[in-house]
Amino acid sequence: MVPKVKTHNTPEDACREVADEIAELIEARRALGGMAVLGLATGGTPVRLYRELVRRHREEGLSFANVTTFNLDEYLGLTREHPESYWHFMHHHLFDHIDVPVERIHLPSGTVAEEEIDAHCAEYEEAIRAAGGIDHQILGIGRTGHIGFNEPGSAIDSRTRRVGLDGITREDAAAAFGGLEHVPTHAITMGCGTILEARRISLLAWGAKKAEIVKRAVKEPVDDRVSASFLQTHEAAVFHLDRDAASRLG
Ligand code: F6R
Repeated sequence: MVPKVKTHNTPEDACREVADEIAELIEARRALGGMAVLGLATGGTPVRLYRELVRRHREEGLSFANVTTFNLDEYLGLTREHPESYWHFMHHHLFDHIDVPVERIHLPSGTVAEEEIDAHCAEYEEAIRAAGGIDHQILGIGRTGHIGFNEPGSAIDSRTRRVGLDGITREDAAAAFGGLEHVPTHAITMGCGTILEARRISLLAWGAKKAEIVKRAVKEPVDDRVSASFLQTHEAAVFHLDRDAASRLG
């Protein structure tokens, strides 16, 4: 299946469109007295989207009071307060600036004891199910083709679990951590199967550095060496790209 690709003039244009979809979902659910369930990503890519959602909250009164969130992943070994934890990232860029109820924010724990990781991952899956499943999942893409931290070799039906991080992924994070030796080696991530159960998926990618892996994910056959290629099997997955990230699609 050829996945749907939307090429935008700028990342800001792409983020406005995805923010429109999120706002429509939230408002449609509110009109029915229901909840909207968002799957969220961290990293450089979604920062502009979160900025746009915060702006809409502040300037246009978009309320997140009926929203539940599930983040894709968290580094193992980092406390919530660590400046590179995804808990910290999400609060800094989004949660501290909107009215999402704190009890409806979910991220995997970075400090769960080794022997409790499997139970913790099963509980995360159960919490997603209990919330009614994810309505709209936001994704970035790593240079290894990962979505979440589903590095090459992850199965299409994988679930939330502990994973080892690829060397390229750790290198890409080294500057932020002040050196490769400080980058965690493991994380907890939603699985590819977990992600693919979302009713709608928006993968965002900007810049020439993402062009080659975007091409492999979109144009080459589905392959577990590029987890993002699994999105080709999803009915409602869209790759939102800027011109540079789309530059190798031909
Ligand atoms: C983040 C995540 C990762 C990132 C990917 C791209 O929660 O799960 O898959 O989306 O590594 O990162 P950036 O956006 O920093 O290029």
